Amino acid sequence: MVDFIGIERIQQLVARRGTARFIEELAGEIERDFLRWDDFEKSPRHASHSPVGVIELMPASDGRLYAFKYVNGHPKNTTVGLLTVTAFGVLADVATGYPLLLSELTVTTALRTAATSALAARRMARPGSRVMALIGNGAQGEFQAIAFHHLLGIRELRLYDTDPKATDKLVRNLGALRLPGLELVRCASTAAAVAGADIVTTVTADKRNATILTPAMIAPGMHLNAVGGDCPGKTELHPDILRRSDARVVVEFEPQSRIEGEIQQLPADFPVTELTEVLAGRAPGRARADEVTIFDSVGFALEDFSALRYLMRIHQQERGGAQIDLVPDLEDPKDLFGLLAGEPATQAARPRVTA
Ligand SMILES: NC(=O)c1ccc[n+]([C@@H]2O[C@H](COP(=O)([O-])OP(=O)(O)OC[C@H]3O[C@@H](n4cnc5c(N)ncnc54)[C@H](O)[C@@H]3O)[C@@H](O)[C@H]2O)c1
Repeated sequence: MVDFIGIERIQQLVARRGTARFIEELAGEIERDFLRWDDFEKSPRHASHSPVGVIELMPASDGRLYAFKYVNGHPKNTTVGLLTVTAFGVLADVATGYPLLLSELTVTTALRTAATSALAARRMARPGSRVMALIGNGAQGEFQAIAFHHLLGIRELRLYDTDPKATDKLVRNLGALRLPGLELVRCASTAAAVAGADIVTTVTADKRNATILTPAMIAPGMHLNAVGGDCPGKTELHPDILRRSDARVVVEFEPQSRIEGEIQQLPADFPVTELTEVLAGRAPGRARADEVTIFDSVGFALEDFSALRYLMRIHQQERGGAQIDLVPDLEDPKDLFGLLAGEPATQAARPRVTA
């Protein structure tokens, strides 16, 4: 039997902790895994592109557990009532190859992306950052807002989306949470939202080299959390922002970010630092108060590995955890055909494997 987390279960697991605490715990898991970077087998994700979107497979393993995520990115989906990003994933036991957990990862991707953004910003944003511009108020928006309110101390959120209904939704959802001391400011343009911000989060969806941020919008000392550009030909920053002499660019996994990140717009020898180096204290996230720091996020398989292991742990610890018969449980493992020939298959639950 394989542990199973569907939408109803993820709702329960997040509700029992609260979204902010869930993101905080997840950030801790992700940080610990980034700190044992060399333990992991890593590769850029496998991407299958079409004119309207991408479908990606994201594997990672530490030799004991193996994880993969299936994820898509279809920016036009929302016009037909579908999500831009959906995902699910599997955690497996390397020793036997057996799957241990099959889980939804659509909600979890939003949670882990926000957790990773906050982890990076804690090392890269100026201490005392209180004002964040949030450009793109779609599915990921609230998660970024909650993470930065809770883990960075953001107290003013300046909102802009080309679709005012997306901002209406975000204001409604965040308003209902009554996050202590958080002021929401609707802005008429990206430039208006960004002016005076300490941190700028871009989380827009458009399958092209968009220019969400132009060089003129950027002030010394800002931290840019660039989340939405995550595919070849799909970026958010004008390349001159990255080329600033005072810019410091941090990426998750350099070989993948060269293909998918904002840095795809620059030569292959453009200097970047991997997040693991910053988290381990081997490289600064920010060296000076007036530097422009840029977290060029694309989403890396290790974040999903951490999330799946965390999910399996809390799923097993808390009541109500379901399992499904994804894999046959046979008395004679050579008699697979017996399953179809009407032989009784023993589907007794296996002892749970703890992570
Ligand atoms: N880096 C990561 O780890 C990671 C993880 C998840 C999603 N993403 C990416 O983040 C982006 C957002 O994902 P989502 O699920 O919130 O998508 P979404 O479609 O729900 O929301 C995107 C929002 O961006 C807005 N937008 C588009 N162009 C804009 C512009 N020029 N200015 C302002 N707003 C604009 C849209 O109106 C929409 O409300 C996607 O591109 C997705 O691929 C990255």
